[in-house]
Amino acid sequence: MRVLILGGTGFIGARVVHALRGHDVWTYERGQTGGVSPTTLRGDRAEIARHRDRLERLGVDVALDMMPRNGADARGVLDVLRSVAPRLVAVSSGSVYRVFGRLLGREAGPPEHTLCDEQAPLRTCLFPYRGASPRPASDPRCWLDDYDKIPAEEAYLAAGASVVRLPMVYGPGDPDRRLAGYLRRMVDGRRAIWLHAAGAAWMNSRSYVENVAEAIACVVLRGAPGRVYNVAEPEDCSERVWIERIARVVGWRGEVAVAPASEQAWARPAIEELPPEARFEHHVRLDSGRIRRELGFIEPVTAPEGLERTVHAELRAGLPSVDYTREDDFERRA
Ligand SMILES: NC(=O)c1ccc[n+]([C@@H]2O[C@H](COP(=O)([O-])OP(=O)(O)OC[C@H]3O[C@@H](n4cnc5c(N)ncnc54)[C@H](OP(=O)(O)O)[C@@H]3O)[C@@H](O)[C@H]2O)c1
Repeated sequence: MRVLILGGTGFIGARVVHALRGHDVWTYERGQTGGVSPTTLRGDRAEIARHRDRLERLGVDVALDMMPRNGADARGVLDVLRSVAPRLVAVSSGSVYRVFGRLLGREAGPPEHTLCDEQAPLRTCLFPYRGASPRPASDPRCWLDDYDKIPAEEAYLAAGASVVRLPMVYGPGDPDRRLAGYLRRMVDGRRAIWLHAAGAAWMNSRSYVENVAEAIACVVLRGAPGRVYNVAEPEDCSERVWIERIARVVGWRGEVAVAPASEQAWARPAIEELPPEARFEHHVRLDSGRIRRELGFIEPVTAPEGLERTVHAELRAGLPSVDYTREDDFERRA
């Protein structure tokens, strides 16, 4: 099968290329991330129309968009992709679900304890990461202001694409380095990692990057048009248990301890993009039954193995320093 991937050199995208080995895979990106291959086409998403003829001549069977950030971004490439490939696949995320809007504090409602399958209610608030004022252009996370997968999905589903909703992804080379803060504390021999009660109990679906890539490859090869597929490990866990699993890999013997609600500004899960008003009593748990039942998806890497590889890669990459002022002060008072 001939596959075109928009964004095939990133953290997940490069693993999708690997998962599709044996197929004829072409990628399209600017050339700022990752390596080069003979089947790489250089260009910005915004100027894809200039490459229409060349892309049409490729004769691809499926086009995969790894990076549609919002509706305009999706529509901007869809016009070309529709004439380039008979089948389309777009990468989305669990951030589309209503529970995510509640987690961000953008929507009211009680915590839900059931898993979200693909029919679960979606957020009604759009652009959930936007604050009262736009992030400055110098903020490395300023792209979050324009991030909303709901309109991106709508555009792709209207074009008959398959959509893959990802959970939080971990693995070597994770640009978000979500393990690094916990690992730094472990390596520094802290006696405790503090979380407020809701943060410690927070349940959040995750998947190891090579398994996510395999799931996306399954949808590329066998996904049905207009169908949505969740991806997540079959067993999720609380943030406390997640940290304890990381601790076992490095042999840290400290305690994941519960801090009072008064300390919630700092004693919270280390997920930078979640705003200070995040409400961790709202769990984000995805049901991945459909992709297993309908497409035969099975993880090639066990979760403990994936975590071990991730931890060792983080340690090799060098851990950023952490300012312990607030937790030292709290530990003196406690
Ligand atoms: N990581 C997670 O926890 C998580 C969770 C849920 C969903 N997701 C979804 O997973 C996807 C991210 O995949 P990834 O980790 O592989 O991304 P990534 O590491 O950020 O890589 C981005 C890719 O897109 C290309 N790209 C970026 N801007 C471009 C532009 N303007 N024009 C052309 N190409 C461009 C990059 O290459 P160049 O820089 O060379 O152009 C690169 O190949 C997103 O859709 C995200 O929403 C991720």
